[in-house]
Amino acid sequence: MSLPSPSLPVDNGGNTPARGDARPIGVFDSGIGGLTVVSALRRLLPNESIYYLGDTARVPYGGKSAATVQRYSLEIAQLLLGEQAKTIVVACNTASALALPALQERLPVTVTGVIFPGAQAAVAATRNRHIGVIGTRATIKSGAYERALLSLDPRVQIIARACPLLVPLIEEGWLESPITDQVLLQYLEPMLADGIDTLVLGCTHYPLLRPAIARLLGDTVTLVDSTENCARAVQHLLASSAQTAPPAGEGSLQVALTDPPDAFLNVAHEALQLQLGEIQLRAL
Ligand code: DGL
Repeated sequence: MSLPSPSLPVDNGGNTPARGDARPIGVFDSGIGGLTVVSALRRLLPNESIYYLGDTARVPYGGKSAATVQRYSLEIAQLLLGEQAKTIVVACNTASALALPALQERLPVTVTGVIFPGAQAAVAATRNRHIGVIGTRATIKSGAYERALLSLDPRVQIIARACPLLVPLIEEGWLESPITDQVLLQYLEPMLADGIDTLVLGCTHYPLLRPAIARLLGDTVTLVDSTENCARAVQHLLASSAQTAPPAGEGSLQVALTDPPDAFLNVAHEALQLQLGEIQLRAL
């Protein structure tokens, strides 16, 4: 597949034309949770435009097979390429765990997942090398976090746990609720007892529960997620491939969903303070 030239001349209002690549960064998630990654990208790379696709018609991915998640991810990637994406960010832990190699192998653009950046954040944060990971069933079952963590530091001890009840609670907007606290406690107590000092929030929805988790775990456990490190990885990738957006002007954010938005969009919108504009509806 051929894409437009990555280096486009841009009139910056001065005498010398600035050059840059104004094509958007394509970002996708199984739903709205990946907007946590978009929020970090917007903060770090305000000049970059972003086209975000949330596959709300088929969410959740967390209980689906690897073959299905790979097929969905490739379909979405084709849509993003149709939007001229210059690089693709898989803002979903489940899709990163199950489909990243397939995407990297088959797509004509670079692809960044969220697992490795999350593992990097954990290895940088831990003092006792005892790391907990929470995520969807599919993410935990894949062992992707263990592989990434051990590749960064073979001495780390890891306790990983699937937390399938968290995504529905978050989507319901129960970010601050005694029921959510109970569920969190049930999931996290064994990890605390195991002596972790760092917890990876291995699902793009979970940063929305950060205040509740931090309150429950206190200050002995550092919470890390992929969002900031993922945004930094994209920044580095764009700079090293001369694909950075033109310096003048603000990047735009286009959000598209595969099913009409529900109340969760408002939850994410309020929690992340993103300007979402008009939401497009796209079929895959
Ligand atoms: N966004 C997904 C992830 O990060 C969680 C939701 C789902 O199960 O699809 O794993």
